[in-house]
Amino acid sequence: MTADIHVPPTAPRRVPLIGHALPLLRNRLEYVQRLRTYGPIVRLAVGPKSITVINSHELLQEMLTRKSQHFNKGLLFDKLKIFGGDPLPVAEGRQHLNRRRLMQPALHHKQVGGYIATMRDTAEPSVAAWRDQETLDVCNEMQLMAQGVVMAALFSSNPDRGPAQTILNGVDTVFKAALRHAMVPISALERLPTPGNRRAWAANTVLSNAIEAIIADHRAHPDAYEDLVSLLLTVQDETGATLTDQEVIAEVTALLAAGSETTAVTLAWLFHELGRNPDLERRLHEEVDSVLAGEPLAAAHIPQLAFTRRLIDETLRLHNPAWILTRRTISPVQLGQFSLPADTDVMWSPYAMHRDPDLFPDPLSFDPDRWLPERPQPPRGAFMPFGVGKRMCIGDQFSLTEAVVITALVASRWRLRPTPGATVRPVPAITVHPSSLDMIAEARVRVGAGSAA
Ligand code: HEM
Repeated sequence: MTADIHVPPTAPRRVPLIGHALPLLRNRLEYVQRLRTYGPIVRLAVGPKSITVINSHELLQEMLTRKSQHFNKGLLFDKLKIFGGDPLPVAEGRQHLNRRRLMQPALHHKQVGGYIATMRDTAEPSVAAWRDQETLDVCNEMQLMAQGVVMAALFSSNPDRGPAQTILNGVDTVFKAALRHAMVPISALERLPTPGNRRAWAANTVLSNAIEAIIADHRAHPDAYEDLVSLLLTVQDETGATLTDQEVIAEVTALLAAGSETTAVTLAWLFHELGRNPDLERRLHEEVDSVLAGEPLAAAHIPQLAFTRRLIDETLRLHNPAWILTRRTISPVQLGQFSLPADTDVMWSPYAMHRDPDLFPDPLSFDPDRWLPERPQPPRGAFMPFGVGKRMCIGDQFSLTEAVVITALVASRWRLRPTPGATVRPVPAITVHPSSLDMIAEARVRVGAGSAA
């Protein structure tokens, strides 16, 4: 059977000159969800630029797996290149393949079990330091914990809160600038010394210096560390070449950026949902209490924390951190019945897809039990919090395990209660994060003096 081949249709309500830029800039999250009602694939005009939005999970599977050789990572990731090096998330072609081969073993699921004690020991002091009835900025707490965990696992060091906050702010500033540049893709604006650009350049320097110091320490004491930085400093490609310091800095920055905020916002949303669903919170506490039975959390507990894991999957569905991902065609390609010429900018929204009522019944309800095997499961490819194909997240097992560890650590000691009257909105920035999330820590079991881990 031969089917007709079409050019993707243009979305309605295109305004002369600016196209669809206004709703995309003003109300992005709502707009990417509305775009799904325009069909499996639809074209947007953003000023002079055209962006093709893929809504169909089947077309996405085709693009990210069988046809992936026709695409590079596109708009969002182009903008990250200006901050130096071509680390894994932005590397292309052979370089990407080589780098992925080098790094994959360190984050392989067999390896992740070995990080569990580090995850626990890194996160536990923060959780133990909360005070009963204290109001916590949950987003910030989760950011610091998630970043501490990535740092500890990747370069065996968990800087004090001060330096950690500096690095965290640096990563945040640099990536906010990249997102701004991707939203308004006019190259000249990126080089202008605007306050935003100046902040991003300064943050990039601070970040590089902080990581350079860590690398210098590793080079000076090569036997003292067994972590990803040591690995990156020693790996060789097939020609025997090693990575330069600059390339290692780029990889480490990228891992911190890719691995901290994503996990942190997922955890923040999870505690937000638990705060408004006491029944789910009670079930979590029951599971954690019975599985841990007063012991320190260890690798053997992780598979037993099944309800905890369903809570995390459901959070990754309803509050997926990625509201926009991009690709660009490097050669003409056909997706389903649609033809895309070379140089087509493509975008999709896992966030919007995960809220589609055609794929997930009652999509706005937070229901971890939808993931019970006896319940009907979504169609293949409809749930892809970590992407799919050769560019799929390299840290998926790491972050899932980390999220179980941190959720269980918090649940074993605390209830996080919403602050009365607070409204929590989703803000689509680098990830979709809560507008602000102040919660009150209520001690479940009072920890006696000297017994805190
Ligand atoms: C909840 C947590 C996380 C989510 C939702 C997430 C999501 C994703 C997604 C959707 C992609 C694919 C992007 C694309 O196809 O364009 C990706 C790639 C990537 N992620 Fe994650 N991620 C998470 C945690 C982590 C962690 C913990 C690390 C590392 C420690 C990490 C490192 C990476 C890297 C290096 C890539 C690029 C892979 C490549 O291009 O080959 N991520 N992530």
